[in-house]
Amino acid sequence: MFRLSLSTRFTLILSGVFLVGIIVGGAAYWRTLQLRAQEEIAAQGLLLIETMNAVRGYTTQNVRPLLADKLDASPEFISETVPAFSARTVFENFRDQLDFSTYLYKEAAINPTNPLDMADEFEAGLFNQMSGGGFGGEMSGYRMLNDARLFYIARPLIIGSDSCLECHSTPEQAPASLIATYGDDGGFGWTLGQTIAVQIIYVPAQEVFDAALRTFTLVMGIFIITFALVVLLINTLLKRYVIQPVNVLSGLADKIRSDENYSSDLESDALQSITSRADELGSLAQVFRKMATEVHTRTGMLKNQVNQLIIKIDEMRRKQQVSEVTNTEFFNDLQKRAGELRNRKKDDGEDASSP
Ligand code: HEC
Repeated sequence: MFRLSLSTRFTLILSGVFLVGIIVGGAAYWRTLQLRAQEEIAAQGLLLIETMNAVRGYTTQNVRPLLADKLDASPEFISETVPAFSARTVFENFRDQLDFSTYLYKEAAINPTNPLDMADEFEAGLFNQMSGGGFGGEMSGYRMLNDARLFYIARPLIIGSDSCLECHSTPEQAPASLIATYGDDGGFGWTLGQTIAVQIIYVPAQEVFDAALRTFTLVMGIFIITFALVVLLINTLLKRYVIQPVNVLSGLADKIRSDENYSSDLESDALQSITSRADELGSLAQVFRKMATEVHTRTGMLKNQVNQLIIKIDEMRRKQQVSEVTNTEFFNDLQKRAGELRNRKKDDGEDASSP
């Protein structure tokens, strides 16, 4: 294991946890935002396509019967009687509002009455899929159009009533004014129940996704800044409440170990501030100070005793030396005396033996 300081270890562990949290949470949040954005776009598309169908219905049911007689007599075609025209016109009005200028509505046909309604390649693809028969639902997805990412909802447009065929069966049957205005090239030969076009609505997706991205960035930014602050705060608190006191205590312990003078440290403000704390480190410091004080007095006593012992030993040694010295002299004296005695005896013996 690496030798890491407590604060580094804490920072690493917390950062690891936060990183995992940010990645997992961020991914989940991103996914949710994307889904919600998609739902929002789809809901918008659905709303618009239903509205356009309502406009179409209104034209067929309410407007057309009123103008049907006039249409036959009028030399000029009355476009207001045409569902496709009213839907397009209403949608153009809708698009005039700034926020909706990027929305599009089209009734795309392969063989359109109005060349504006000619299906492009993509729409023709959808049309082919839908006109294959048996297709009843709708299609949706994304496509790029004029460098914009658009969401589309597409539905088949089916000739559902005979009224449609008044204008869309053959050029001969259609009102003369229609032919005069639109010509007889397209929009004919349709039959009841036939899929003749794709009704398609385009909703700008990029803006919704950009908004989702902005929300994501903002929330993640707040998230990350909060995490960074938490790590910083924990680090500061750890240093202040744990590491610094522990350093004071270990410094003191080191002085005790190396037998430095630490009596002033026992009264220092640094130690005082730790012992006055009511938490675990506070009680540890209290016990530690008590221990250090006792060690201090005991070492003092021991040193005193040792000093006294040394003095005693010195005294004894001195006495011994003195006695050694005196002993030797005594011995010498004795020897000397013994010698003298012997000499004296000899002298006496010689005196006695001499006649
Ligand atoms: C009064 C004649 C008339 C009737 C009735 C009529 N249409 Fe049309 N239709 C037109 C004309 C004209 C256009 C071209 C309008 C425009 O300028 O976009 C058109 C356009 C369309 C379009 C758009 C593609 C294209 O050809 O440009 C579709 C789809 C369509 N009609 C379907 C129908 C259906 C379905 C009905 C029956 C509910 C119907 N029409 C009834 C005259 C008619």
